[in-house]
Amino acid sequence: MKTIIEPFRIKSVEIIKMTTEQQRKQYLKDAHYNLFSLKSDDVLIDLLTDSGTSAMSTQQWAAIQLGDESYAGSPSYYRFEEALRELAPFKHIIPTHQGRAAEKILFTLIGGAGKIIPNNTHFDTTRANIEATLTKAVDLVKLDGLNPEVIAPFKGDIDLVRLEELLETKADAIPMVMLTITNNSGGGQPVSMANIRATKALCEKYGKPLFLDACRFAENAYFIKMREEGYADKTPKQIVQEIFSLVDGMTMSAKKDALVNMGGWIAMNDDELAMKARNLLILTEGFPTYGGLSGRDLDAMAVGLREVVAEDYLHYRITSTAYLGNALSQIGIPIVKPVGGHAVYIDAKALLPHIPALQYPGQALAIEMYRLGGIRACEIGTVMFGRQTDGTEQPASMDLVRMAIPRRVYTQSHIDYCIECLEQVYNNRHQLKGLKITQEPPMLRHFTAQFEPL
Ligand code: F0G
Repeated sequence: MKTIIEPFRIKSVEIIKMTTEQQRKQYLKDAHYNLFSLKSDDVLIDLLTDSGTSAMSTQQWAAIQLGDESYAGSPSYYRFEEALRELAPFKHIIPTHQGRAAEKILFTLIGGAGKIIPNNTHFDTTRANIEATLTKAVDLVKLDGLNPEVIAPFKGDIDLVRLEELLETKADAIPMVMLTITNNSGGGQPVSMANIRATKALCEKYGKPLFLDACRFAENAYFIKMREEGYADKTPKQIVQEIFSLVDGMTMSAKKDALVNMGGWIAMNDDELAMKARNLLILTEGFPTYGGLSGRDLDAMAVGLREVVAEDYLHYRITSTAYLGNALSQIGIPIVKPVGGHAVYIDAKALLPHIPALQYPGQALAIEMYRLGGIRACEIGTVMFGRQTDGTEQPASMDLVRMAIPRRVYTQSHIDYCIECLEQVYNNRHQLKGLKITQEPPMLRHFTAQFEPL
């Protein structure tokens, strides 16, 4: 059979409120053309993020009933720890309420003025948490990873030459090296096992720990299975185990590949760092066996961690994302190639060359997708990254619009609707106009900035 079906049935449904183009025009105006300011009820297909938007399974909902809400030493924590250790046998596993809480703790402990933390590409919250400690966040993804047109299997790989140069010249300033799997800001592109292994070897040479920002570790593992020599016969679980055996720690947003709506953790082997992390955790998140989560959330993560490495699930997941990407590509819409794991990234700069970067072609495209089809996507470009720490503005290296696919939520007909809508956007592309920002905060401006169409 060539049709790959969703490997689940639907038992409980969420009603979508239908809206008209006329209504959506008004909603856009009311939201000052910032899609984060829309009411989600006014969105037909919400592809803003794959984070915290997964549909949980019956097994997860059942596990929630087992949640034990003890302040300290809850069995829910131990079930979570055991499930995670099966994949990532770190000595210390510390739950947090989401990924950025783990980041905040880690960088508060290891960051500081004058320091530098390299990564393939730091995600926005990671970068912001690093910069908040006056540490410099450096992106060293291989140059292929910045070119949407290049087709290569592992465009998330870090550039080992530039990494070694940095380690050689600035070793004292570098407290750790990071790799983001998959590379979200660079198109959801995977990192190869060979690159993880080589990065670890470099880190060892210079005495630095290697941490993963591992939000989409299972999707990354499936790409390794499909694309990297020597892994075709391994299970996703074995590949995940191998990935984690190579590194010294991880930060995680469980809202992605742990298939839950809220959660995260930080894990590591270093005893002293873990002790300090637990102390900080107690200040802001909670006791180390719940870290800002309910016991039931920990149980849902424990089950999610087992479900996410299932081969049938990952096969459907990666293939259905590719289905959307390939269809857009056939229409002529430029996308980041090859299609990433959790999202399709439209190259708005190439699609709308008549809109200058500082008039935000990505934002213009995302606005049009909502107006025409009620689809909410997310600009990852000059709106998100263009504001510099000194308050000036620079075009981002890419102007992308991300259609992130929530896990196990939308069916093929929802995706076919998106494809039809984008075909219309494509046909009208010459009519689209840019925007200007009328109000913005000093950091993470994309969440709350206000716009006016030009
Ligand atoms: N790292 C990466 C690579 C991420 O994609 C995210 C979140 C985080 C860290 C932070 O995790 O949201 O739990 O605090 N990405 C979401 C997204 C928000 O839409 O891509 P969080």
